[in-house]
Parts: sequence; structure tokens; C-alpha cells
Amino acid sequence: MKIMLLGTPGSGKGTLAQSLSSGVGLPHISTGDIFRAAIHHKTKLGLEVKTILASGKLVPDELTCSIVFERLTEPDARQGFLLDGFPRTIPQAETFDRKMELDSVILLELDEETNVTRLTERLICPDCGAIYHRTFRPPQKADVCDTCGGTPVQRPDDQIEVVNKRLEEYYRLTAPLIRHYEDKQKIHRFNALQSPAALLHEVQSFLQNL
Ligand code: AP5
Repeated sequence: MKIMLLGTPGSGKGTLAQSLSSGVGLPHISTGDIFRAAIHHKTKLGLEVKTILASGKLVPDELTCSIVFERLTEPDARQGFLLDGFPRTIPQAETFDRKMELDSVILLELDEETNVTRLTERLICPDCGAIYHRTFRPPQKADVCDTCGGTPVQRPDDQIEVVNKRLEEYYRLTAPLIRHYEDKQKIHRFNALQSPAALLHEVQSFLQNL
């Protein structure tokens, strides 16, 4: 199965994908995680994209597509994948659609106020990428990642000025993908306000019957 998760920054794509991945046996491929790992390890790619991510803008389409297509050649992606954060523009979608067909686009929907709070209150582990929320999903022990023992921190792009820019970029460049995949009858809408467990259950049941 080739699945894409679509939704505003902070709608819960990464949280859902991290649990769904093991449930459905598909690799979670997140372009944001790939870029953040490159920045963390100070690779050539990391140096190239660091200021772009910090500004809330998008990485150029050509570079993003080449990174994703290289990742999709790895053995674990042969039977399918969960794409999180890609495609994110119409040119990226057109490039992707020329190479392969998605089975479903899972669209996560929530209101703007909750959306902004989720971003400004989020913490992530820079070592393993585990996602937390200061109030709703704090690490069991303060400042210690439940998964790897790292120290969860706020993402530089989760400061309010950058959050506003990212949401602006989403509505300008990414939201048109809803129409693009609606025309292909691939869009399936889910209420992202429900608990992570309830959302996971609903999406898993949906995929089992796809
Ligand atoms: P990326 O990392 O993809 O960020 P994003 O799309 O902005 O999405 P987020 O990771 O912010 O949010 P999410 O929907 O995964 O929410 P999460 O699960 O964490 O991209 C970062 C940057 O990389 C981009 O700005 C761009 O520069 C670049 N980039 C990436 N892909 C690109 C591309 N294709 N082209 C060009 N540039 C690209 O949840 C958020 C919070 O809510 C957490 O605290 C979580 O605990 C909480 N939460 C989640 N679900 C629930 C729930 N059901 N109930 C209560 N709380 C919840």
C-alpha cells in the first residue's frame, strides 16, 4: 500500500505515522525527519536546508524529490510506505504521480486554534524523533525521552512567528493538493481532534478495508 498523510503542520501526521507504521508494517517516510536528521548530523544536505527549515519556508522541489525517490529505492519501501510531508506542492505531486500511484491520501482535519497550540507546545527528541506535547503527552520523566533517553526540545520552527509562516506556506502551496487528489478520488478525511489512540484505530480499520 502506498499511503500519504496530508494535513496542516501540527495536525498530527507524525504522531499517527509513528504508531501506524508498525501496525500496518509499512515504513514511515517523513521528509521533515530526513531534513532534521541531516541538520542534526551536520551533513551537506543539513547545511543546505538548515536556514530554510528555520524560516518556515519549503525546501526546493527538485532537491526534495531527489531525496524522496532515493529513499523509496530502499528495500523496506518495496511493498509500500507511509509518506508524511511529501508531496507538499503541486509540482512535487505531479513528479510523484508520473512515477507511481498512491492508494489513499489520509487528510487530517482540525481547527486553527488547536493546531497552533499543538505546534507551540510540542517537544521532540532530537536523537530518535519521538514526539511529545508539554500538556497532553509529556515524557514519563521530565526532560527524558521515553524511547531513547535523549532530551526532548522545542523545534526551532515551532516558535510562533515561524509557525505562522509555515501555516501560510501550507495554505498557499500545500492545500491545493486536496483538490488535486480529490480529482483522483484518493482523499479520505479524518477528524484529527480525537485522541491519538482513537484516530489510529479509525485509520487502521479504514486501511484494512481499502
Ligand atoms: P515537517 O516535519 O513535515 O513538518 P510539518 O508538515 O510542518 O508537520 P509537523 O511535523 O509540524 O506536524 P505533524 O502534523 O507531524 O504533527 P505532530 O504529529 O508532530 O516539515 C518541516 C519542514 O521541513 C517544513 O517546514 C519544510 O521546510 C521542510 N519540508 C518537509 N517536507 C518538505 C517537502 N515535501 N517539500 C519542501 N519542504 C519540506 O503533532 C503535533 C503536536 O500535536 C505534538 O505535540 C503531538 O504530541 C500533538 N498531537 C498529535 N496528535 C494529537 C492528537 N490526536 N491529540 C492531541 N495531541 C496530538
